[in-house]
Order: sequence, then C-alpha cells, then structure tokens
Amino acid sequence: MVTNLENLKTDVEDICRKFGNDRTRMMDIVMAVQKKYSCVPSKAMDIIATELSSHRVEVEGVVSFYSFLSEKQKGKIVIRVCDDIIDRMANVHRVNEAFKKELGIDFGETTADGKITLEHTPCIGLSDQAPAALVNDVVVTYLSTDKVHEIVKVLKETEDPTKITNRYGDGKNSSPLIRSMVHNHIRKPGDVIFSKYNEGVALRNAVCQSPAEVIRSVKASRLRGRGGAGFPTGMKWDFTRSAEGKVKTVICNADEGEPGTFKDRTILTERADSLFEGMTIAGYAIGASTGILYLRGEYAYLREYLEDVLNKRRAKCFLGNNICSSNKKKSTATKHQFNFDIRIQMGAGAYICGEESSLISSCEGLRGDPKTRPPFPAKKGYLGTPTTVNNAETFCCVVKIIEKGASWFSALGSQGSTGTKLLSVSGDCNAPGIYELPFGIRVSELLEEVGAYDTLAVQMGGPSGTLIGKEDFNKKICYDHLATGGSVMVFNNKRSILDIVAYFMDFFVDESCGFCTPCRVGNVLLRKKIEDIINGNGVPEDIDYLEKLGHTVKTASRCGLGQTSPNPILSSIKNFKSIYDKLLKSSKDGVNPTFDIKKALSDGEAIAERKSVIFDTV
Ligand SMILES: Cc1cc2nc3c(=O)[nH]c(=O)nc-3n(C[C@H](O)[C@H](O)[C@H](O)COP(=O)(O)O)c2cc1C
Ligand code: SF4
Repeated sequence: MVTNLENLKTDVEDICRKFGNDRTRMMDIVMAVQKKYSCVPSKAMDIIATELSSHRVEVEGVVSFYSFLSEKQKGKIVIRVCDDIIDRMANVHRVNEAFKKELGIDFGETTADGKITLEHTPCIGLSDQAPAALVNDVVVTYLSTDKVHEIVKVLKETEDPTKITNRYGDGKNSSPLIRSMVHNHIRKPGDVIFSKYNEGVALRNAVCQSPAEVIRSVKASRLRGRGGAGFPTGMKWDFTRSAEGKVKTVICNADEGEPGTFKDRTILTERADSLFEGMTIAGYAIGASTGILYLRGEYAYLREYLEDVLNKRRAKCFLGNNICSSNKKKSTATKHQFNFDIRIQMGAGAYICGEESSLISSCEGLRGDPKTRPPFPAKKGYLGTPTTVNNAETFCCVVKIIEKGASWFSALGSQGSTGTKLLSVSGDCNAPGIYELPFGIRVSELLEEVGAYDTLAVQMGGPSGTLIGKEDFNKKICYDHLATGGSVMVFNNKRSILDIVAYFMDFFVDESCGFCTPCRVGNVLLRKKIEDIINGNGVPEDIDYLEKLGHTVKTASRCGLGQTSPNPILSSIKNFKSIYDKLLKSSKDGVNPTFDIKKALSDGEAIAERKSVIFDTV
C-alpha cells in the first residue's frame, strides 16, 4: 500500500531520473512504478507528468491502456491464469476453481491481506504446455489442482514467486538467468532457424559487403516477413534505406500475442544470438545505429538472459562502436565501419502492440494506438525516423541468407514462399510444440507429423487467420494458399466450432483499442449474434447479418486487428455452414431479415456506451 507520500515522491523522481527524465521512456517509468507499488498511484502520475514535462492525461492514458498497469492497488503478487481457448480445452476451469478455493477470492479480487491478486489473461505463449499461468514474471505450466495447492502454499509461506519453481525446462530454460519451467518443445528443427548457429559469420560477411549488396542478397532470397503479412523483407529494407533522414531504426517485433503462437519464445530462448545478429545486419543494411527489441510483458522471464546475451555481444564487438573491428580473422574484402546497439523495450500486456505502428507508439512511450498509414514506418516510424520492423524469425532467416547465400535459401520451400517456417502447433494432437518445416507442406502432412487424428478443424494463423475443415487439409502451408504467422491450433471432433468462434470474438472485443467504431462496436455485435445462435435463438437470416457486418468491419476498420477480426466467423460460415444450419430456427414472425448497417452500429454504440467519431464514414 502507498502510505508515505514523501517516499513516493522520492521514489518516482528517482525512477524518472534513471530513464533520463525522457518522456519517450514513459513505458519503462510507469512499469517501474507499478513494480514498486503494485499500482501506479494517482499521485505518482502527477509526479511523472511534472518530471517528464508531460501532461497528467498522457500518463493516465498510458496506464489505462496496458493490462499489466493499473491505478488500482493490486497485490504484491499477481497470478494471471491464461484463459486461452487451448487452456480451456485443457480444463483450465478446474485450475480456476482451485485458485479461487485456495486463495478464498474470485478472479479480479485481491486477498484480504492485500498480498495476492487473481486475474485472467489472454494467451501467454504457452499453448503447448497448457494450462499455464504467470505469477508476476514467473511462469507455471501444466497446472493441475494439486499444483495450484502447492503454489499457493509456497506463496503464502514465502511471498516469493521465484520459490514456486524448482524444476526447470529444457535447453536454456534451465540457465541461471532464466530458471523457468518452460519447455521449448522443438519437435522438428529445420535447416534455417534451428540449424547450427555460427556466431558472427553472417555479420562478418555482411560488413565486408556494401549495404546495397546485403539488401540485394535478401531480395534475391525472396524472403517474406514471418510476422504474418508476408511482406518482402529486402524491399522493406530498401524503402527504409532510401527514405530521407540520417537517423534510422531497426525494431524486432517479439510481441507474439496472437493466440496459439509461441514460436518466437523458442527463438528468444535458444537463438537470441542469431536474432540480435540479424538485427545488426539489418542496421548495417538500412543505415541505422539503433535497434529495439520489443519484448512482450509475458516474456519478462527472459529479459535478464537477453540483456546478458547483448552484453556478451558488446564484449565481442558484435554490437557497439566499429562493429567487427576486433575480429582477428583476416578478410581480403574491405570492412565498413559501422556502429549499432540494441535496447530492450518491454511491453505490458496489449495484443494490439504487435501491430507495427502500435508497437512503435509503445516504444515511444505512448498508448499503443495504431497510427494512420501512410506514412508507413519505412518512411516515418520510431520518433519520426525511417524504421524497419521485422518479426524475430525474419531476422534469424536473414542470418542464414547472408551466411549461406540467397540461392541456398530460396532453394528451400516453394516458389512464392522460400525457406522454412516455424509452426507452433497446439490443441488436440499428441506432440504440441515447434515444427520448423519447409513452406509448401500440406496440412494433412503436418497433422500426421504432430499426431493429430480425428481432426474436425484447424485454425491456421490464430484467430485472425482461417478456420479450415477436412476439405482443405490437402492445402499447402505457404503465402499463396494457407498463410500463417505460426499459430496452428488443432480441434478434434468433440469440439464445438461455435464455442471456438465465440472465444475468438471475445478475444477481439477485449483487445480492440476502441479507436474506430466498426471494430469497437461491430465486434461486439458479431459476438452477440454468435451467442444468440449458440443459445438456439438464431434464424437463417442471421448468416446474412454476420456476413454483411463481418465484411463491413473488415473493410471499414483502421488497422489490421479490425480488418481480420471477423475472420473466425466468416471462415467458419464458409467451411462449417452445416453446423450453423443445425442451430438455426426458421424465421419467426416479427423478425426483420433486412440488414441495416447504420442501425446495427448505433445499437452497438448503445451497448458499448460510446459515441462514434467516424460513424459517417461507414
Ligand atoms: C493486431 C496485430 C497483431 C500483430 N502481432 C504481431 C506480432 O506479435 N509479431 C509480429 O511479428 N507481427 C505482428 N503483426 C504484424 C506486424 O504489424 C508487422 O507486419 C510485422 O511485425 C512485420 O514483420 P515481418 O515483415 O518480418 O513479418 C501484427 C499485426 C496486427 C494487425
Ligand atoms: S481496427 Fe480496432 S484495434 Fe485497429 S484502430 Fe480500429 S479500434 Fe483500434
């Protein structure tokens, strides 16, 4: 509890000073205050605003935006149980009940002694070891009622979350700087990401070439971004390099918030060196001296380890001034002088911050609101500088391209989708985990590989992707057929398609930043209609309503979240229409089947209790 205001003032001023009283470091400052006081007290917001020459409303805007920050006092220990669809399938309800019973509180509450808060959270990147939870920064996996009993006992006795883990996972999860019970579950290492990492080879190759030559190689490899959209990486780098401005920035997107995605978790744990090397090569290619790794708050347990990797790379002259200058290996080619360093920016629990312009806002110390595009980040990104944002896996691909050559890389995979892809597979299969496979593999082959039988549906690419049924299992996984940023969720014949769809819509309703009406309100309406159908109150005309409203939300939303949020509904109608039909009753008297988008959205505004600013554009 915040009792001593004098101490609060000194503490908050110290924290602000530590970050140079720089308002662009607002995220770090409010997170440090949250850590110290288990909340960001109202008074602290005033102090921060003064110290950063900012405004109270700006600080409050940031605190209210991120789910890991709160003005309301929380316990010193916050237990966040993952409420993902996969965790639900793994009987997380039993775990929920056990936590409630052991702590004597409900979700959203804090124990009477003020020590422990119990919450739910969306996907924490552990769908391969569900049910899972975060206890502050400590990860607990494969939860059972017995484990919950033990965890709460230890927490009550020690008040120290680090004491609840005594067995560690595989690989570097057991390193003294991680000490996590997480398992990598790398079931199938491939030729690119999880082949042998040869430290510094690619970076030395790069600095012996001109930046333009490096970009040419990346272009020739036909590498496409691994974060979901599949934009050609070499082209993005070229745009950033040729954009006006001396100062440029490289950002690695390690936000990984799409439910069912956990591939970047294994890169950060097992291939952090390669990831930083890829970022450094990008810095060289585009002419940047600053790199930022945006690490999702849920992966805070990896931070100390990642900082250590960065320090070791600085000591080896792979980061810092005059990179590769101490390299003893003689090269006949000329080395180009080049400075580059990387800092880690923590996220604080907001899926939308995976969207690159929101992520940039967050790195700038702002709410994670998406920005209007154009201008695209390559022209005007972080603090107005031309910025390249790439996914963690993309940077690791670059390392192999520069090490082994563009043609070696482009010989892997398929014509339009070169290289391998990391797939994080979860749900109803015998071996959930990470599979690095060449692009072009068929869904049926993947299902065989992961031991998935009796499969009813596969969600490719997470909730924003496509829900496919058996008819599509012969399709190839690649950008031209079935694209995925990595998430593959498997559902067997016992699962209810509409429950899955309802869960995904809940996710989007919760994660919408609320800026534009089609997304903020439209998703609520879509969700409500699915609920009606599940409850037996749907009529055949509702399909038309869902399709029309779904397309409106997709086309009228401002950013990728709203532009993809109706996908679970639209793809399930396309691929599982008979399931809907079984639940729909024939039209009753009085039902008006005509869809009126304006009326629907104004009804939705009433539900959301917010008036639209851009309603007339719909
Ligand atoms: C709502 C939303 C969430 C996203 N989340 C991520 C993410 O967690 N990681 C990621 O790399 N890209 C994510 N993206 C895509 C990014 O905006 C961006 O396209 C990507 O980071 C670019 O990297 P790439 O070219 O290497 O794929 C997301 C997009 C949207 C619309
Ligand atoms: S589409 Fe959704 S998440 Fe994107 S800006 Fe609009 S309200 Fe925000």
